[in-house]
Amino acid sequence: MRTPFVAGNWKMNKTSTEAKALILELKDGLEKITNVEIVVCPPFISVPAVSNLLETSSIGVGTQNVHWEDNGAYTGEISAPMVKEFANYVIIGHSERRTYFGETDETVNLRLKAALKAGLIPIVCVGETLEENEAGKTFDIVSNQIRNGFTGITESEMKSVVVAYEPVWAIGTGKACDAETANEVILKTIREPIQAMFGADVSSELRILYGGSVKGSNAKEYFSQPDIDGALVGGASLKPDFIDIAKAAGAC
Ligand code: 13P
Repeated sequence: MRTPFVAGNWKMNKTSTEAKALILELKDGLEKITNVEIVVCPPFISVPAVSNLLETSSIGVGTQNVHWEDNGAYTGEISAPMVKEFANYVIIGHSERRTYFGETDETVNLRLKAALKAGLIPIVCVGETLEENEAGKTFDIVSNQIRNGFTGITESEMKSVVVAYEPVWAIGTGKACDAETANEVILKTIREPIQAMFGADVSSELRILYGGSVKGSNAKEYFSQPDIDGALVGGASLKPDFIDIAKAAGAC
């Protein structure tokens, strides 16, 4: 049995003051859901404040990115040991990082290795663009992102990894990918390639999330699918709707 997993990606939203207010608004409702691993990922600068408020809480904290070197002349970057003082999770390879900041499967792989070395739980994002989807390339694109992203990772390291399938065309558009299709893509382009690379045990234990316009009102459809173990939530994670999504994950 895979424990359901729901993560909120706050993206570049909320000042530190607003982030504290948001977590205080969501905290009690989220803490009542005891059978779901729940994580919030504020912008870097708000992570210490949010983490402080969640010190004795079951809710985990993550960052939205991490650099692959531990330290050095990398202006503006944050390393995995720096993250680890405040957070236990990290989102890696989000499509917005790939699209706007030039991230590639190779840098995803480097960041993943750094996160694992520091003992962080990585949430590795994959997904095809609208163009790729319309050209019928979804399966090739996503399975390649998996193969390249996970090169050189060991079977035991894979036990802490979470993967999120986020079709780029469904992010922030309100145009969610239908649940059966999302499940099929997850099975064929993530779970099966992971099985080929790391074996059946790793593949059957791997938690795979869907992300892209998930809301309280559609969450159950995704969580009822056999290969979808939770959600990576953007817009709705900034609202009490996030509690309904986490509840739906616990009820499936
Ligand atoms: P939305 O839920 O706003 O579509 O964002 C999804 C996402 O990118 C989560 O990482």
